[in-house]
Amino acid sequence: MYAYDIIKKKRDGECLNKEELQFLIKGYLTEEVPDYQVSAFLMASFLRGLSEEETILLTDVMLHTGQILDLTEMDDPRIDKHSTGGVGDKVSIILAPLIAAAGVTVPMISGRGLGHTGGTLDKLASIPGFRTEMSIADFRNILWETGVAMMGQTDDIAPADKKLYALRDVTATVESIPLITSSIMSKKLAEGLNGLVLDVKVGSGAFMKTMEDAEALAAALTNTGNHFGVRTVAVITDMDEPLGRTVGNSLEIRECINALKGRADKDLIEVTLTLGAWMLYLADWVEKAVDNPRTVVPRITAIDEGALSEKRAELEELIDSGKALESFMEFVERQGGNSEIVANPALLPGAAHIKQVQAVSGGYIQRVDAGKVGTASMLLGAGRQRLEDRIDHGAGIILNRKSGDTVQEGDTVAVLHYNDETNLAEASQLMEEAFEVGTEPPGSKKMIKKVIL
Ligand code: URA
Repeated sequence: MYAYDIIKKKRDGECLNKEELQFLIKGYLTEEVPDYQVSAFLMASFLRGLSEEETILLTDVMLHTGQILDLTEMDDPRIDKHSTGGVGDKVSIILAPLIAAAGVTVPMISGRGLGHTGGTLDKLASIPGFRTEMSIADFRNILWETGVAMMGQTDDIAPADKKLYALRDVTATVESIPLITSSIMSKKLAEGLNGLVLDVKVGSGAFMKTMEDAEALAAALTNTGNHFGVRTVAVITDMDEPLGRTVGNSLEIRECINALKGRADKDLIEVTLTLGAWMLYLADWVEKAVDNPRTVVPRITAIDEGALSEKRAELEELIDSGKALESFMEFVERQGGNSEIVANPALLPGAAHIKQVQAVSGGYIQRVDAGKVGTASMLLGAGRQRLEDRIDHGAGIILNRKSGDTVQEGDTVAVLHYNDETNLAEASQLMEEAFEVGTEPPGSKKMIKKVIL
């Protein structure tokens, strides 16, 4: 078998089989296939696409380049949530301890942020002492004791993805539905899950800019997850505007603590409770089937709206009673972090300087462009341009106004937090442009666009 022939086959729009995909991916890991040939394969796949079957085969090949956790010793259903990436998306940090407080185990292996989108691990790493890197054995122990554990991708989990993602990043092949699907699912399927809720973002701050693309990605992800027996649901949510009020690591941890104290903005709590209700719904679904361990958990084909509302109310009660916040503190401590940040957020890293951004005209805010805010935040040091860049955990942006709010010319609409002023002018300019102001109130915004089973 020759890499050249496989690339040519894909270039000409033909479907590849498992042996061919295995030859390329395993060969890339062992350095028998050079990166210029894998780059050509990635570009051919980007342009020609991969069929449903090829996407599943590629996921399978990537998954089996690493370890697959067996967590069957945990009695509870094991349900995770994953977002395709957005700006100000801090939902996992609120949701994981909240769902653990509801008695469901949440094994979460998360990524670092790249470009204008932030990563959950970078946010958590701003908590003094918090460990995001650990052995699988430690991960298991924490999970066993607290019901929730979060760590970064290790070299043992889908190592092909780590290498391929770095190559995609420099060959303009990231935004491909089948490549994103195999990348995400090869990591998630290694977590030993029973169920998975995916938050597929759509809008200017997301990989998927249109509903059509978001629906296609959601379908590819759910199809792949369900194929491997992990009951998977995708919720398409708005990412045209940053989620919540803050963008940047420490600032977002503060916002998460406020949310767990019951003080979250409407958009943030709406997305959190919707995804959380789905996680509990999946847990129930799996638990019913697990009464008989020989049963393959059936795929969900219809939604019981009443049951879903009950799950949402259960989560609200966990927040109101303080149990969710307790679960967060236990989780932070168990991962080596200082839980005193809950009472004293000033313990989180801060920024030496702030700069206010003023509205250039008055009226109603139509939209705050998530893509521009994400890039501005990255320029201030809160994100990475390249995977090897260092993060400034204290840098970021607070949004004083969001869509639907009124504004007068000269009002402060955002505050930039920074330690390094190298890119300050560019970030300020982007932030001025991010606020779109009009004379009429914008129509109401729907955070939850669609659910794909
Ligand atoms: N997140 C991933 O893990 N992989 C992708 O390809 C895109 C987003």
